[in-house]
Amino acid sequence: MAKMFRISRRKFLIAFDGGSASLLASLFVLSRFGALDRVIAGIVTAGRPSTNKEILITGQRLPIPELEAGEMIGGQRVFDLRIQRGSMAFVTGKQTPTFGYNGEMLGPTLVMDKGDDVVLNVTNNLGEPTTTHWHGLHLPAVMDGGPHQRIEDGETWRANFTILNEPATYWYHPHLDGKTADHVYHGLSGLFIIKDEVTDNLGLPQQYGIDDIPLIVQDKFFNEDGSLNYPGTSEGVKGDTILVNGAITPVLEVPAQVVQFRLLAASNARICNFGFSDNRQFYQIGTDGGLLETPVPLTRLLLSTGERAEILVDFGADENREIKLRSYSSERENIDAIWARDLLDISDFDVMTIRVAAATQDAVTRLPGSLATIARFDESQADTTRTFKLQMSSFRINGESMDMNRIDETVKLDDVEIWEVTNSSEMSHPFHIHDIQFLILTKNGSQPPNNERGWKDVVLVKLGETVRIIAQFSDFADPDTPFMYHCHILEHEDGGMMGQFVVV
Ligand code: C2O
Ligand code: CU
Ligand code: CU
Repeated sequence: MAKMFRISRRKFLIAFDGGSASLLASLFVLSRFGALDRVIAGIVTAGRPSTNKEILITGQRLPIPELEAGEMIGGQRVFDLRIQRGSMAFVTGKQTPTFGYNGEMLGPTLVMDKGDDVVLNVTNNLGEPTTTHWHGLHLPAVMDGGPHQRIEDGETWRANFTILNEPATYWYHPHLDGKTADHVYHGLSGLFIIKDEVTDNLGLPQQYGIDDIPLIVQDKFFNEDGSLNYPGTSEGVKGDTILVNGAITPVLEVPAQVVQFRLLAASNARICNFGFSDNRQFYQIGTDGGLLETPVPLTRLLLSTGERAEILVDFGADENREIKLRSYSSERENIDAIWARDLLDISDFDVMTIRVAAATQDAVTRLPGSLATIARFDESQADTTRTFKLQMSSFRINGESMDMNRIDETVKLDDVEIWEVTNSSEMSHPFHIHDIQFLILTKNGSQPPNNERGWKDVVLVKLGETVRIIAQFSDFADPDTPFMYHCHILEHEDGGMMGQFVVV
């Protein structure tokens, strides 16, 4: 049986996709016996590449992406990004060919103030076309960096817009139709940090790299020769090796005080259920597009691809201790059908080791009480309700596969809309919308958990779930250039689970 699946794994998946309901149902029943879960996961994983763990270089110091504030030229904040090929040492004695912005892999953290007039010059030296999308930012569609803002090899694309977003952590990554997954997997991703005076004065940790630490979490497969193995499996590539900021399960030294982590789930497909090895409480203070109203205490934080979260962790009583940041993936419920899980989806694993050293001089020792006010929309304000059905079979939304030449939805400028996203497939899909930040109204009819009651641009829609979100489409109308909405599992997006809307 195992052998058969190994040879024709794709057929096995398609059989389920096509709706082999009775077989699926019997597997669900059998899976109650637990052990079968493991057997099935073993079978599924057998068809995937795996890394010989002995050859990996692990436990390095966590790299901190360089902080880049740009250059002020004539009142504009100007950033230069160069997309290039590079190489990294992940495998003993070998070099891994990678892609990066201004470096070997990943990119600088771009920091700016709300209200800044920014210019981003993106030069493509990759040897093939790509794009760079400013994920989460509210801007004119022609500046969005989506599939329509193609940058040919050797060319420079100039994006210019005003930063209107709330202070939070955003990110940039390629978005070429059909190539996003490959380009991100090989290393193209970087962060934005937007600041303003109000947030700067909340007493939050803000010494970048010391008590304010970006964590870009990803997973990959490595070949013996050092190269990245990108299997391109259509249900989503989940690697067996965890990287943070481009280092394999690294070590971070933190001071014994309140520390802020800016988490970015930048995997192609993996959903992580973060927590600490001593099960300590931590506090989420920010979502994708801004601060929450008050810090939300948590012991677990589920983040799907594209989502960000700012959390505060109090290490004040932990000097000389060692704590692990982990993913408690075995505890996740109702995420994916058995066939779509891999071994790390059903087990707990380490993401990073944290060593606590002495506190700094100006240590933050207290958590802030209130953070921000969120101007919530009332459902009665909505001008329109739209429905979106996510389908696994051939990766469609409302029966359509992505077509660059088709506009799927037309939104009126300044309208408040409710988008109702239903997932009747066998996998969870992180649903992302460009241009706007939204608020989650309900998940399967219930209020979202407290830590999701802030501005979002990605929401995980679990299997069988209907999520309703509300947003206003203000400021930028352009009948000729669309924005995207899509599943942020990059292989699903590239496979066609993406649509286009214009604001007019
Ligand atoms: Cu993070 Cu449409 O992308
Ligand atoms: Cu985006
Ligand atoms: Cu998906």
